Amino acid sequence: MNKLQRLLQSKILILTICAAGIGGTFQYGYNISIINAPTSYIQTFMNKTWLERTGVPLESNVILLLWSFTVSAYPLGGLTGAVVAGPMAIVLGRKMSLLLNNVFVIIAAILSGFSRMAKSFEMIMLSRFFTGMNAGVSMNIQPMYLAESAPKKLRGAVALTSASFTALGLVLGQVVGLRELLGGEESWPFLLASNVVPALIQLTALPWFPESPRYLLIDRGDKESCISALQKLRGNSDLSAELEEMLAEQAAVKGQRAKNPWELFQNPALRWQLMSIVVLSSAMQLCGNDSNMIIDYAGRRPLLLGGYIFMAGWAIVFMVALSQQTQISWMPYLSMACIFAYILSFGIGPAGVTGVLPTEVFDQMSRPAAYMICGSLLWFNLFLVGTAFPFIVKSLAHFCYVPFLVVCICTALYVGFFLPETKGKSFLEISEEFKRRNFKAQTHGVFYKGPEEIKSTML
Ligand SMILES: *[C@@H]1O[C@H](CO)[C@@H](O)[C@H](O)[C@H]1NC(C)=O
Repeated sequence: MNKLQRLLQSKILILTICAAGIGGTFQYGYNISIINAPTSYIQTFMNKTWLERTGVPLESNVILLLWSFTVSAYPLGGLTGAVVAGPMAIVLGRKMSLLLNNVFVIIAAILSGFSRMAKSFEMIMLSRFFTGMNAGVSMNIQPMYLAESAPKKLRGAVALTSASFTALGLVLGQVVGLRELLGGEESWPFLLASNVVPALIQLTALPWFPESPRYLLIDRGDKESCISALQKLRGNSDLSAELEEMLAEQAAVKGQRAKNPWELFQNPALRWQLMSIVVLSSAMQLCGNDSNMIIDYAGRRPLLLGGYIFMAGWAIVFMVALSQQTQISWMPYLSMACIFAYILSFGIGPAGVTGVLPTEVFDQMSRPAAYMICGSLLWFNLFLVGTAFPFIVKSLAHFCYVPFLVVCICTALYVGFFLPETKGKSFLEISEEFKRRNFKAQTHGVFYKGPEEIKSTML
C-alpha cells in the first residue's frame, strides 16, 4: 500500500501517465480491437466498390486476400513507427514526439472516415498503415518517457501502466464496436475514425505536463528545465539524491551522442544488454497482455522466469487437453482454463517486465536505439505469428503450441542463467553490473579489452 500511497502523492505524475497513455498504448489496443467488428461489412464494401468500378464482383478468395492486406498493414505500419521512433525521441524529445505522433492518427482517421464516401477501400488500407505507425511510435516512446520520469522506486509500476492502457484500449474498442454503438452496418467509417478522439484528448492534455527530466538534463544539457520538470513531477519531496544520480549519469555519458542501432550491435560493452532485450522482446509476442503492481515487489527476474515456466507448464496441459478433447467430456473446459492461465501468467510476468527492461539496461544515449530494435522485433514477430499461426494450426493440429512451448522454455533458461536483477537499482549500477558480464569472458582471452576493464585490472 505504501507504493500506492506514494504514487497517489505525486498527482502530476499520475496525470502525466494518463495523458501519455490515452494517446499512446491505449491507441494500440483500441485499434487492434475496432477492426474486428466491421470485418464483413468492409468485405462487402470492397466487393461492391469493385463491382461499381469494373462491372464484375470480386471472388471470395480475392476479398480475403484484400482483407488480409488491410489487416497486415497495421503491423507493417507499426514496424515503420518503431524505426522512426528512435530518431524522433532523440531529436524532438519524448513528449514532443508523443504529441506529434497524433498527426498519424488524424491522417488515418480522415482516410478511413471518408473511404466510403470516396468509394475507395485502398484508403482503409492506408489508414491502417498510419494507425500502425502511431502505435509503433507510442509503444516505443511512451514506456521510455514514463520510466524516465518516474522515481526509481516506482519505475516498474509506472512503466507497467503502458500495458494497462493497452488492455483498456482493447476492452473499450470491443465496447465501441458493439452493434448498438458504432458496430452497425452503416457506421463502420465512424468506428474506424473514432481513434481520433483519444488523439485529440492527448493533444489538449499532454502539453501541460513536463518533458522527461533525464532527457532534459542528459540529452539537452538543460539543468534548469530538468529541475523544474522534476519539481513538478515529484511535488515537494527532496530531489537532491535523485538529481545527484542523474548528474552522475550525465557525467558518465559526457561527450557521447545518442547511438544508432548499428552502433549497439558493434559495441562489446552492450553485448549482454542487447542479447537480453532481443531474446525477451522476441519471446513477448505470443499472446495478449495485462498489468500488475507486483513488479516492484517481486523483482524482474522471478516474474520473467516464473511467468515463462508457468506458460510452458500450461502449454503442456493445454496440448494434453486438446488431444483428449473428443474422448473426455470435461476436457474442453480444461483447455479453456489453460488459455486463461497462459494469458494470465504472461500478463503478470513477461508482458510488463519486457517493456521496462530496455529503459533499465541501457543508458540514456543507447536507449532510443535499443527501443528501435525491440520495437522492430515486436512488430515483426506480431506480423510473423499472425501470418504463420493459421498454417501452424493446420499442420500441427493439437500440437500447435509446441513452437510456443519451445520459446517459453528457451526464454526461461535464458533469464535463469543470464539476466541480472534490475529492480530498485540506479541506471549506473545496472550498467556496472552488465559491464562485469560483458568483459568477464575476455579477461583470460586475447580479445578486445575495454578501457574500464583495463582500469579495473590496474586498480
Ligand atoms: C460480391 O458481390 C456479388 C454481387 O453483388 C455477389 O453475388 C457475391 O456473392 C459477392 N461476393 C462475396 C464473397 O460476398
